[in-house]
Amino acid sequence: MKRFLIGIVALFLTPVLAGADAAERRLRDLSVPFYYDLGPDSIDVSKYPERRGEQYKIFVRRCSACHTLARSINSTMRSREEWSYYVHRMRIMDLSEKEHHLRRVELKDVVDFLVYDSRIRKIKRGKEFVENDQRLRDKFHALHEERVRLLRQIIERGSPASQGK
Ligand code: HEC
Repeated sequence: MKRFLIGIVALFLTPVLAGADAAERRLRDLSVPFYYDLGPDSIDVSKYPERRGEQYKIFVRRCSACHTLARSINSTMRSREEWSYYVHRMRIMDLSEKEHHLRRVELKDVVDFLVYDSRIRKIKRGKEFVENDQRLRDKFHALHEERVRLLRQIIERGSPASQGK
């Protein structure tokens, strides 16, 4: 009888606990800070000049340590001023890490690559880029709505932190 009762309690509790876990996991998966994180995380450089292909490899190796490459690839930054500023800002941030990912000597190559690539994908093929940009913003907006919905669900169910005193 006792075992039967435990079985019944477990049967009711399991989906509740699993549900809370699933909602929290899903919330974590949806938590990207920038809408451009949601786009593609690689560039087809097969038609770029060889030198740009080499620079692309450095960019891939160095700029994917703390966030995916999607952040750079789909951001609206395009001018040399913008890229120089950001790449140096990343370098300063990197200096505060235990293990350094960015090497000063390689940063010029990274900036040169990003400026060249921006000219091709974001300016010459600007219409396509703007359309994709809007798609990513819409997707981000939809994710945001889902995040709010999940958060409400989690709060209403009550987390251990909100129970007791
Ligand atoms: C040490 C970790 C680290 C490395 C390495 C790094 N980033 Fe970042 N990056 C961040 C963090 C953290 C943010 C978000 C906070 C911010 O922008 O200050 C960010 C944000 C960005 C953004 C978005 C900025 C915005 O406000 O729109 C771009 C673009 C970017 N990084 C490009 C790069 C490029 C290009 C490289 C390689 C040169 C790089 N990152 C390497 C940590 C890093």
